[in-house]
Amino acid sequence: MASNSSPKRSRTVVLGTGAGIPRKVLTNFDLEKMVDTSDEWIVQRSGIRERRIGSEGESSITFTTQASLAALEDAGLAPEDLDLIIMASHTPDMTLPSGSCLLQGRIKAKNARAFDLLAGCTGWLYGMVVADNFIKNSPDFKVLVVGSEFLSNRLDWEDRTTCVLFGDGAGAVVLTGGGDGRGILSTCLRSDGTQWEALTMLGPGSMYPITHEFVDKKLHVVRMEGNRVFRLAVPALEEVAWFVLTDAGFAPSDVDWFIPHQANIRIMESVAGRLGIPMEKVIVTIDKYGNTSSATIPVALSEAARDGRIKRGDLVLLASFGGGFTWGAVLIRW
Ligand code: UT7
Repeated sequence: MASNSSPKRSRTVVLGTGAGIPRKVLTNFDLEKMVDTSDEWIVQRSGIRERRIGSEGESSITFTTQASLAALEDAGLAPEDLDLIIMASHTPDMTLPSGSCLLQGRIKAKNARAFDLLAGCTGWLYGMVVADNFIKNSPDFKVLVVGSEFLSNRLDWEDRTTCVLFGDGAGAVVLTGGGDGRGILSTCLRSDGTQWEALTMLGPGSMYPITHEFVDKKLHVVRMEGNRVFRLAVPALEEVAWFVLTDAGFAPSDVDWFIPHQANIRIMESVAGRLGIPMEKVIVTIDKYGNTSSATIPVALSEAARDGRIKRGDLVLLASFGGGFTWGAVLIRW
């Protein structure tokens, strides 16, 4: 076993997990009535059967708060125990203040610094790596990393190539340092900004400020060259998965649970197949929640940890990719 698996070394351990999922369900059959699509096409091409959508009066903070308080309760901590909040989102409530500051105020985490992190669907995974580095410096730090997206009002509900794919929701973990050999064993982050046009939400921003033309051209919505993203994602996920496994001295056959970003069941099957990880070891939530971007992995992690599938000592492989283009992996001894 690699030296970095030594039980003596302090690592970043997950103390608790939580999810915040909207109650409102939007099925493929509902979408059949809205755009030229079919349940059969959506299930075959993406694996999605339904997704959750926020209702009137709800916004990012609704589900961010639910996920964060659930993770804190699971960790046995109070909000004031937190030293740091990192929120990954490209759909926070406001541009200023940050979503993390809104959350800090809402849950009264008065001792926490708070900032947002933007790395597309890989944002939460980036947040895990940033938190891991904070904790390497300050092992007593209690860090909340939450991935939260409210994509339903950033979709073009007339564009069948995107609106059938995404959903709203949030997932969170609470992390701290621990010394019993468990925790984050290896991490890997990558970016390729030359591929930025494959997946965009162009504005509002300094290049595309809000004008009548901006609204007419729907520049606030998600646009994606799905097939291009698909072809980039599969080898990218495989590469970072191999990186963290090799770095920590493991093989794919050692993995107990693989949680890939939930963007398309065919991408998950393809990557799992290339790695030789059977689908029984892959946590899948895309059928019920669709693609919730930076929330997919923490939501899936929370469900699998809370329903007892992931057990103490399990080797858990997380891998994500998304707009930017960004991708990465984290390997955890649970
Ligand atoms: O989380 C961020 C990362 N995002 C992703 O990972 C998404 C990656 N990409 C994908 O998941 C897949 O590319 C999609 C699910 C988006 C699309 O699947 P695909 O197999 O790549 O289909 P396609 O884009 O090549 O489209 C095939 C056909 C097209 O029709 P023609 O040109 O062959 O006549 C599309 O117009 O399917 C058509 N189509 C649809 N038909 C029914 C596209 N969207 C729909 C739809 N319903 N909703």
